[in-house]
Amino acid sequence: MSERTILFIAEPQAVSSVFPTLKEAGVQAGLADTLAGALNFIKKTGPALVFSRPALQGYSAQDLLAEAGDGFPPVIIFTKNGSAEEAQRFLDLGARDYWLEPLVWDKIRLALPRQASEPAAETEAEPQRPVRPAASSRFQVIGKHPAVLRVLALARQVARSKATVLISGESGTGKEMFARFLHHNSDRADKPFVAINCAALPEHLLESELFGHEKGAFTGAINRKPGRFELADGGTLLLDEISEMDMGLQAKLLRVLQEGEIDRVGGVETVKVDVRVLATTNRDIEEFVREKKFRQDLFYRLNVIPIKLPRLADRGEDVFLLAEFFRDKYCAACGLPRLALSEEARQWLLVYPWPGNVRELQNLMERAVLLAGSGPIQPRHFLMDSETWVPEDESGLTPEAAPARPASPGEALSVMPLHEMEKALIFKSLDATSGNRTQAAELLGISVRTLRNKLNEYKQQGLDIP
Ligand SMILES: Nc1ncnc2c1ncn2[C@@H]1O[C@H](COP(=O)(O)OP(=O)(O)OP(=O)(O)O)[C@@H](O)[C@H]1O
Ligand SMILES: [Mg+2]
Repeated sequence: MSERTILFIAEPQAVSSVFPTLKEAGVQAGLADTLAGALNFIKKTGPALVFSRPALQGYSAQDLLAEAGDGFPPVIIFTKNGSAEEAQRFLDLGARDYWLEPLVWDKIRLALPRQASEPAAETEAEPQRPVRPAASSRFQVIGKHPAVLRVLALARQVARSKATVLISGESGTGKEMFARFLHHNSDRADKPFVAINCAALPEHLLESELFGHEKGAFTGAINRKPGRFELADGGTLLLDEISEMDMGLQAKLLRVLQEGEIDRVGGVETVKVDVRVLATTNRDIEEFVREKKFRQDLFYRLNVIPIKLPRLADRGEDVFLLAEFFRDKYCAACGLPRLALSEEARQWLLVYPWPGNVRELQNLMERAVLLAGSGPIQPRHFLMDSETWVPEDESGLTPEAAPARPASPGEALSVMPLHEMEKALIFKSLDATSGNRTQAAELLGISVRTLRNKLNEYKQQGLDIP
């Protein structure tokens, strides 16, 4: 693998602006606009990362993802006008991530393997050693709070059985992570882990995604396609957001769970499958059962072992462990030494209500590492928006020490609004260049004039410009 090469599958004008920055950073970039061209490039140079448009004329990222096997580079889909549905679809197809434009170097850098993202000279010049994440960090469940330890003990205990587990908890509490934990601690660990989001697809599509379809089963079914149950054969299938599944399909799912066999859409024979089923929900599913929106028999069948994840705000000082874990992760990704967390920042972490739970904390830490420069991390590095969140009680935080609240409704999303990202990068560049507009504009790959316009905009919003 060539760690300092990236392939873009896009129209040239979409990526031309980021090419000079890549070159400066010593990263080689390739460009393709057909599947054959892309596969050829991947075979020849083995890039560390592929950025692809969802589709171009005569090209579809879905076909590219279908080619991915062992040793294939991670694929990030990037697009101008994205949707949550499309994002979910590509993630389900195996994409590493789904980004909205613009493509900026600071973000690309975080996505690259660490050695590739920093030129050797820069890291060598660093006086302190960069943090390295633990090798097993992918499935490391962080937490010491009794409520978390209880859940972990239960998960370990049931991991090896084939029992169906229903994992519930608010958004961002780690449901998918626990599902993966169960899979990786089972004797199915070397078999596939397949996830599908039941909220992301309309009923008929979900049915054919789950059970597959025969050629000609419906308009558009050009080929026979195996469903997720077949793909997960021998392994684990995660039915994410199960409460959103339509009643009709619930009946079919129940049959599959009971019989261990599936009917492909348009098929005549049944297919035997050996799949361990896990499901997640962030709703009060028992309430759904009472309201007759969810089948009681299916609920009992899924809820053989219930795992309920506590809210982050109820995990006490685990918030520090998690904050430090994510700080280390992002510092490592940026090749930075471990940044200190100031006492004010710790205080803030403790009193913030965490509506988006662990995911929100993860996003906040990523942003803070990006903004804190050489640290220490302060409350103001967590968030920036016009609305200010002030703790309600006597926690000792003054309003000035309390940073702004995250933009609602996107706060639980794993992305930062683009205008905020842009603002963050502009301020970071000004920081890095001690306020020198020309150098900052150069770093950002924009004209000084554009930079000045942006700064004027921020000034009018009442921000202090360095
Ligand atoms: N205890 C933990 N230790 C380390 N990382 C965690 C922990 N809990 C959650 N995470 C991380 O937080 C992020 C959100 O977790 P996850 O996607 O599993 O949440 P979720 O409950 O499925 O969220 P949603 O309801 O929004 O789908 C992930 O990146 C996950 O790795
Ligand atoms: Mg989830």
